Amino acid sequence: MFLLSTQVCHVTIPRSPAPAQDDATTAITKHPASRGRTLVFQARAVTKVYHMGEVEVHALRGVDLDLFEGEFVVLLGPSGSGKSTLLNILGGLDVPTCGVIRYREQELTAFDDATLTRYRRQCVGFVFQFYNLIPSLTARENVALITEIADDPLPPEEALALVGLSQRMDHFPSQLSGGEQQRVAIARAIAKRPQVLLCDEPTGALDVTTGVVVLEVIERINRELGTTTAVITHNAIIADMADRVISLSDGKIHGVRLNERKLSAHELSW
Ligand SMILES: Nc1ncnc2c1ncn2[C@@H]1O[C@H](COP(=O)(O)OP(=O)(O)O)[C@@H](O)[C@H]1O
Ligand SMILES: [Mg+2]
Repeated sequence: MFLLSTQVCHVTIPRSPAPAQDDATTAITKHPASRGRTLVFQARAVTKVYHMGEVEVHALRGVDLDLFEGEFVVLLGPSGSGKSTLLNILGGLDVPTCGVIRYREQELTAFDDATLTRYRRQCVGFVFQFYNLIPSLTARENVALITEIADDPLPPEEALALVGLSQRMDHFPSQLSGGEQQRVAIARAIAKRPQVLLCDEPTGALDVTTGVVVLEVIERINRELGTTTAVITHNAIIADMADRVISLSDGKIHGVRLNERKLSAHELSW
């Protein structure tokens, strides 16, 4: 149903995903880091072609990717390499042209619109470069907007405490710094207790010191809540805080690196 171009897609994943240690389909799953871990995402041969009038833009050219429960992954690559396209597809904001994505036991690429909406609402927390807060609502009210439609949310106060903003809950976005606004956006993303936290250049609009504070918050969410976390960046230094670094260029994964010792956010400097 997601065959949006004239291309023919030939990809299948077995109904029940094979245990990661037995899966020899990609170098990624054979990596020692995958042993015995629960798969959250399994993407195979994912392509995305945007049609701009006569022009076809190949944003993804056949991506195979596995993400495991609780891991902290950085997607690294230059501008235009397909990072946002990949994250948006994993988060159900966009659909691939070809390829199959499995989310836990389900085939994400076969979801109808209503299921995809439920998936986004219940399972995925998004953080973007720009905070997208509602200016006329306080920090607490911005978070409450989401907790009101979630099944089993954290109280907004608890989510804001996790990002270190207990003292600023009744402030409006205009009364908060960029870093604080981003932390409100993170509180909003995690308040629904998402299975996965997808962050697209979360520090892209921040200075280094503020960026580190935001990364510390993301690191804490991953560590304390165990939320599977993917962070997009073009800053190779940030990659040092990941369990695994997945490098993209020109719509393809061209490298996967395991950090033997990952750095904590406060050890980073750029
Ligand atoms: N909605 C869109 N329509 C047309 N082209 C797009 C769209 N989104 C992304 N692209 C193109 O796809 C390619 C990959 O974009 P993107 O995933 O945003 O890269 P990155 O996040 O790594 O900078 C780029 O050439 C970009 O211009
Ligand atoms: Mg991008």
